[in-house]
Amino acid sequence: MSESSELFDRAKKIIPGGVNSPVRAFKAVGGVPPFIKSARGCRLYDEDGNEYIDYVGSWGPMIAGHANPRVLERLKEAMENGTSFGAPTRLEVEMAEMVIDAVPSVEVVRMVNSGTEATLSAIRVARGHTGRDTIIKFDGCYHGHGDSLLIQAGSGVETLGLPDSPGVPKALAELTRSLPFNDLDVIDKTFREDGEKIACVILEPVIGNMGLILPKPGYLQGLRDLCTQYGVVMIFDEVMTGFRVAYGGVQELFGVTPDMTTLGKVIGGGLPVGAYGGKREIMEKVAPAGPIYQAGTLSGNPLAMVAGMETLKILQEPGTYERLNKTTTTLLDGMRSLFADAGVPGVFGRVGSMFGVYFSDLNAVSNYEDAKKSDTERFSKYHGAMLANGVYLAPSQFEAGFVSLEHSDEDIEKTLSAVKKALSTL
Ligand SMILES: Cc1ncc(COP(=O)(O)O)c(C=O)c1O
Repeated sequence: MSESSELFDRAKKIIPGGVNSPVRAFKAVGGVPPFIKSARGCRLYDEDGNEYIDYVGSWGPMIAGHANPRVLERLKEAMENGTSFGAPTRLEVEMAEMVIDAVPSVEVVRMVNSGTEATLSAIRVARGHTGRDTIIKFDGCYHGHGDSLLIQAGSGVETLGLPDSPGVPKALAELTRSLPFNDLDVIDKTFREDGEKIACVILEPVIGNMGLILPKPGYLQGLRDLCTQYGVVMIFDEVMTGFRVAYGGVQELFGVTPDMTTLGKVIGGGLPVGAYGGKREIMEKVAPAGPIYQAGTLSGNPLAMVAGMETLKILQEPGTYERLNKTTTTLLDGMRSLFADAGVPGVFGRVGSMFGVYFSDLNAVSNYEDAKKSDTERFSKYHGAMLANGVYLAPSQFEAGFVSLEHSDEDIEKTLSAVKKALSTL
């Protein structure tokens, strides 16, 4: 019995499903998840001594690579000064300045401990600011596990077939409307009927929680215009895309500025961090500047701040995003041609160093309905074969893949040779 199997059996007796976050259990693809002992650069090492080229990157944060020496050095220095004070620090001011400099919509920002906390706080602020209760989200977008947002959600909830979770009060669920993505007519109609009740629209402006889905040309600007017209707060959930697809996120890349933004993943450099921010007039309603309450014992934690800031400093260096784009393009181009050679239909998407692959014979995937038509059985076989060939992919095709600065040309070549072998087993 492998060490991972043994640990998984022990874990299942004492942790729900054996894991502390559902997708880690590999339920959608079957088999035992490798238990990871350590990681360095773009590689993961499991308890059984197996080595994998990693395209999960802790679900996004590890853009500068695992155990990045610069980040570790800053962490060691910070640790010497104490690990939590529950009092204001210079580091939090510096971090807020870096985020505000980078993200076009953010004039004032509050740090929290996870992406979930960021989105649930942002919708509270949008509700408090507008005095309206209804929120709009999109089918298949995932914004963490806050009650109001677990309606027709993507990521693990989609993977496990639980898009509407028990335990979310009906009265609250009724205040969330989930609409199809990439369809402005449906927004226009909803706003015309109910615009004065709607506090906010929250979206992943590039969706990474049902594979990878891009907004159609003009969609984000059209949504922006409608939100302005009806006084609806537009929230970009850039927990995944912030500092990932470009330094300033999707809003920089597409030139559309929301009213509020949520962040996470990369800004923590692998430590637990989230943030929400936006226009001054909205954010100054947050306590203690204003009446809308939100707080956190460990928010702005000094270790999390230095890991995040050092990661952002690495990303600020010239040529970083060009390199990430180039590596990811090489990977995707290679995969596209290997799929074609093997006669396996696939739909491929990439924005910056985020990518998605659907086992699908559609020409394009532009919403949740399309994504759901993908062949999950074929993906499971492919996933198992990739793992056996030393490549660690997210255990669901309804998740994005991530490339880091540490993925070399040689790693991409090795990955493509694993893809070729995996496709030959299908
Ligand atoms: C777009 C988006 N928002 C929010 C979250 C929730 O973040 P966390 O898992 O840190 O709570 C995620 C997590 O995957 C995400 O992808």
